[in-house]
Amino acid sequence: MRLVSLLLLITFSSLGYAAGGAECGDYGDCDEFDARLLDNSSLQRGLNTFINNCYGCHSLQYSRWGRVAKDLDIPESILFEKLVFDPNAKSGDLMKGSLDKKASEEWFGVAPPDLTLVARSRGSNWIYTYLRTYYEDGSKQYGVNNLVYPNTAMPNVLEYYQGKQILGCKQVPSYASNGGVRRDADRNIITEEECGHLLLAEGSGKYTAAEFDTIIFDLTNFLTYVAEPVRADRERIGWFVILFFVVFTALSYLLFREYQKDYH
Ligand code: HEC
Repeated sequence: MRLVSLLLLITFSSLGYAAGGAECGDYGDCDEFDARLLDNSSLQRGLNTFINNCYGCHSLQYSRWGRVAKDLDIPESILFEKLVFDPNAKSGDLMKGSLDKKASEEWFGVAPPDLTLVARSRGSNWIYTYLRTYYEDGSKQYGVNNLVYPNTAMPNVLEYYQGKQILGCKQVPSYASNGGVRRDADRNIITEEECGHLLLAEGSGKYTAAEFDTIIFDLTNFLTYVAEPVRADRERIGWFVILFFVVFTALSYLLFREYQKDYH
């Protein structure tokens, strides 16, 4: 009885935890992100975006240049020529970044954290959503705010790619109390104004919304890889292990049948 009530308590307290505060802050549920860790060209594009836009502030200090080159199938000579800006860096070096921790704390109020493990601590869905939910907010230091991470100290570094996004109102279908969409006498959907939506000023960025989503997908894919470089291998080996068990079970069963013959 005690065990049952303990189990119930654990179940309900975890439910309560899940219900309190949405996973992606003011945005609600995070957008779904499905990693593609075997897609090397996506990972390479992600690395490129990261080095050119993020590495100035964020290190990947548990990861080494040579390992990334090998895993992502990039010849080291090309990696060092195009993406490693420190002329003294070597293949075995950790990706420590160049930002001085003390100075950056003064600039941002908080030092930009190392991002090697951020896909595990925050989750890939969170990162994928966070980087796409900046909006204009004149009251903030950098003129922007974020729905997933309100009052974030990080400026919207990819605004030039995405364009200007604001929080505004738009017409959405109106629902009756029974959950159905409300319609007028001509069966047209009745809409109502709802505010707090992210609205993108078309054409204000270098890329379209779909292209920008792909850029963030690749970047998040890369951060997911960096957080657990062996994950792709682990998943591949997992299939062999399952195959082994299937074959092993079949063989054991045949052997079992052979032994059975002696009893009868
Ligand atoms: C100008 C410096 C700067 C640049 C460039 C920058 N960031 Fe940040 N970033 C920050 C700061 C400062 C924080 C801490 C924000 C806070 O805690 O309020 C942060 C926080 C983050 C976080 C949240 C980490 C956590 O667990 O709280 C992620 C994820 C992130 N940055 C990703 C990126 C990515 C991806 C890029 C490149 C597109 C990037 N950042 C470029 C300064 C920067």
